[in-house]
Amino acid sequence: MLRHLIDPLDLSREEVISLLDLADDMKKHPENYREKARYKKLATLFYEPSTRTRLSFEAAMLNLGGNVLGFSDSNQSSAAKGESIADTIRVIGAYADICAMRHPKEGAPLRASRYSRIPVINAGDGGHQHPTQTLTDLMTIRERAGRLEDLTIGVCGDLKFGRTVHSLIKSIIRFPNIRLVLISPEELRVPDYITEDELKAKNIPFTEVRSLDDAMPDLDILYMTRVQRERFFNEEDYVRLKNSYILTVDKLRPAKESLAILHPLPRVNEITLAVDDDPRAAYFEQAENGVYVRMALICFLLGL
Ligand code: NCD
Repeated sequence: MLRHLIDPLDLSREEVISLLDLADDMKKHPENYREKARYKKLATLFYEPSTRTRLSFEAAMLNLGGNVLGFSDSNQSSAAKGESIADTIRVIGAYADICAMRHPKEGAPLRASRYSRIPVINAGDGGHQHPTQTLTDLMTIRERAGRLEDLTIGVCGDLKFGRTVHSLIKSIIRFPNIRLVLISPEELRVPDYITEDELKAKNIPFTEVRSLDDAMPDLDILYMTRVQRERFFNEEDYVRLKNSYILTVDKLRPAKESLAILHPLPRVNEITLAVDDDPRAAYFEQAENGVYVRMALICFLLGL
């Protein structure tokens, strides 16, 4: 059956766990997977900037012995001539076996999936969802904390426009005993559809706070995010909010020794460089894990 990954909940919790197990094994024994996707092609259709997501998708496919094609600048594609997503994906289906799409419009990958005969992976749609980043985040949380349940998770920064935040929350609350501390300025709070339909409707314990310092001592995981400049309507608001949170070595003093600090990257100012040397910093490891979860996902969606 043709499967896509558009929303994090397109995968059941059991499927997520088995993908993470596979990704762990791929990290330990990459040599066992070198031929897995031989002769298969991944198309990367990126209508918005990206470094990690696109390159880790490409590295993943190359690690599996497959090939990649695509574009990273939509001005160079026929989108610039006014081609619709529906037409583009119908054609890509004839050229590739699977595709990863990033688009500034919320819902574009979903629309593509409806016209596609190959699996479509949402590699980030506007300020909406980013399900493969969530797999990366979950793999890193499990590696660092040794579990995906019974955790107090602080999510800090731009919770309104940060699609990685929306996907992480939707996915992690399916595990038992998750407590969320949502840390943001008032203007950048998590959208209502998350607080109402996900958190309140499912009785998940959560608080919405302004202060990172107050939350710090309780956290098992701290997920920092950048203020999403490109989604603001005006530059003034961005400038006013961009430095709302800056994690420093000093601010980490009251934190648990077992804390893991995650960030989907790119970082702008939210984490000072000195924090990189703290053993609790997990964000570069997290970026590396992106390759393994995407290898696992490609194999899963291609039925390999
Ligand atoms: C994130 C994204 O694109 O949403 N980047 C990524 O994929 N690792 C986070 C961001 O851009 O802030």
